[in-house]
Formats: sequence, structure tokens, C-alpha cells
Amino acid sequence: MARPTASLARAVLLCSTLLLGLATCHDTTRKVKAGQSIQAVINDAQPGDHIVVEAGTYTEQLTITKNNIQLSAKKGVIIVPPSAPTPNSCSGLAGPGSEAGICISGADITFGDLEMPGHRKVTTVGHYVENVKVEGFNVIGFGLNIAILGAKDADVRKNTVSEGGWYGILTVGSVSSLVTRNTVKSSGLFFIGICMDDKSDVHVTQNVISDYGIGLCVQTNGADVGHNKVSNCCFGAFIDPFINGAKVTHNHIGPSNPLCQTQFGGFSGGILVDGATNAEVRHNDVSGITDYGNPNQTAYGIGIVDEPGTTATGNQVTHNTLYNNDLDILFFTLGTDNEVAHNNCTTPSELCSK
Ligand SMILES: *[C@@H]1O[C@H](CO)[C@@H](O)[C@H](O)[C@H]1NC(C)=O
Ligand SMILES: *[C@@H]1O[C@H](CO)[C@@H](O)[C@H](O)[C@H]1NC(C)=O
Repeated sequence: MARPTASLARAVLLCSTLLLGLATCHDTTRKVKAGQSIQAVINDAQPGDHIVVEAGTYTEQLTITKNNIQLSAKKGVIIVPPSAPTPNSCSGLAGPGSEAGICISGADITFGDLEMPGHRKVTTVGHYVENVKVEGFNVIGFGLNIAILGAKDADVRKNTVSEGGWYGILTVGSVSSLVTRNTVKSSGLFFIGICMDDKSDVHVTQNVISDYGIGLCVQTNGADVGHNKVSNCCFGAFIDPFINGAKVTHNHIGPSNPLCQTQFGGFSGGILVDGATNAEVRHNDVSGITDYGNPNQTAYGIGIVDEPGTTATGNQVTHNTLYNNDLDILFFTLGTDNEVAHNNCTTPSELCSK
């Protein structure tokens, strides 16, 4: 008899160990075909299962509250809103009446204020949902297309989300979320492409975002926002007041959207450090941020400004390349220890020399 391979032996050992503790050992692939309900299969799934969805249009909202579920779409899977919503813990997250297309959610979550326009803040999470992965879906036309709420190690990748009325993707109250290689777009100028309002350790990388008021909303200390491409937005990346240590690097931002002249208060910025502290804004390429000649508007490539109650302090804006912007760098802060250096730009010349 052939000896079992090392990996088989390990699998058997792992399963026996799990059997002692949990009386189950699952690692099943489940298929969903057009005409079936994805949610029904999610409801039947066991932690460890891989759910593979076949091409088709599915009129439903999905909720994932179990650990270790991998939900993958084959090419051509579209999720659209049902005529009547199925309320879940993501309902109302992006404002009264809003529903999520895909809701990855922990349990026993308490909420703080709803900022309008904006989303409900998460105060505490009783139980995080762990290791959920969602990939390959086209999610169209929900108030919030994909929500990660009270999750640990969620992985949302390679989805195409469009017409998210308020948000394309929102991760809130979570830990170690990874949002990568998604395409987020709208046909108008909707509110926010990707927003991260997590507890810690969020990574938002290699996404392509277009036609949102704010492409990337950075509301997590130490957020890693890198290698994204943002075009036709009013703000490419917006680092919120009081946020500490965000890293916004290697992003490609611009041009701005002509609709920003009348929306978003007449401002347009590639990257805005808005009363944030110790941000690292490096190696970004920002171009084409303009007011299109409108005298009522101000447009700039990278801005460092203050907000009531917080001055921009300790930020590092270095090694960025800025061109074809009305103003490359807007430095308008009473904060201290901000380093603006080694940027390849032209205006204002005193900030761009060297
Ligand atoms: C600028 O603002 C003034 C006063 O509100 C308005 O009359 C004018 O049409 C605006 N110009 C443009 C180009 O939007
Ligand atoms: C500065 O940026 C321009 C435009 O991208 C580029 O052509 C040029 O090579 C850059 N210069 C340096 C010194 O990196």
C-alpha cells in the first residue's frame, strides 16, 4: 500500500483534531447555478466551504455571517437588487433605507452616529465574522454595493461594483480587511467609491475607481492605501480629520470630473490631508485636477489643510509627481512638522523646487 503523502497526512491529522473538538470537518465546494438562490447555498454552507457561482443574473441581497466562507463568482455573475429588500445588519448602514448588495457581517454590533451624508459608525463588535472572501462578482445598483461590517480578515477582490448610490465598497468596524483589484464606477457622480472606517489594519490596493465624489475615503488610522487608480472624481483620496498615520502611496489620481464645479462645494483635490496627522503621502502620480476655468472653484493636486479642532501635523508629502493641475500643492495649515519635499511639480515653485 502506498504511503499517504505528507499533505494528505496533514489533512487527516487536521480533520481528526477538528473532529475531536467540533465533530465536523468541512472543505466542500458547492455550486450555484443561474435560477438558484446564492443565499440559500450560503445558509446551508459550513465554515470552510467554497461556494462557486455560475454565470447569470441573481436578483438578491447576500449576507455572510459565517466564518471561513469563500464565495467566488465565475465570469458573468451579476447581482441586482430585489424589488423588496431583505433587511440584514447592513440595512441602513449608508443612510436610512439603504441596502447592501453583499453584506459580510459580524454579530452583536452596536452603532454610533450616522453622519449625513455618510454611514453609521460602529462602536463595538461582539463577534467578528472571520476569513470571508468574496471575489469576481458584478454588483449593480444597491445603495451600498459591498459592505464589510464587523469582520476580521475579510478579503474582497476582483469584483466590479457599479452604480452604488452612496458607496461602492464600505468597510466599517472591521479588522484586517483587504479590498483589492476591484473596479468601482458610476455613470453619474455618486458619493464614495471605497471608504474604510475600520478598527485597524486595513489594506485598499490596486482598485480602479471612477466617477465618485470621493474616490477613496480614508478614516482608519494607519490605513494602507496603495497602487489604486482613481479618475473622474472630485477628491481622489480624502484623509479625514484626526486620522493618524495613513499611508497613501503609489496611487494614480486624475483627471477631475467637470461635474465637481457644481457639486462638492466647488472644490476638487487629488489627495487631501484634511486635518490629519502623520500621514505618509508618497510616490503618487496626480494630474489633471482642474476647475475647468470656473472662477468659483478651487482645484489642487495635493492639499494639506486644517479643520476645526485639528491642524495637519507631522505629515510627509514626498516623492510625488504632479502635473497639469491648476495648483500642484496647496499648503494651507498652521500645523507643524509637515514635510513637503522631493516632489516633482511646478506650483507653487517654493514647494516644488528640488
Ligand atoms: C460663479 O458664482 C456666481 C455667483 O453665485 C454665479 O453667478 C456664476 O454663474 C458662477 N460661475 C460659474 C462659471 O459657475
Ligand atoms: C517629472 O514628471 C514628469 C511628468 O511625469 C516627467 O516627465 C519627468 O521625467 C519627471 N522628472 C523627474 C526628475 O522625475
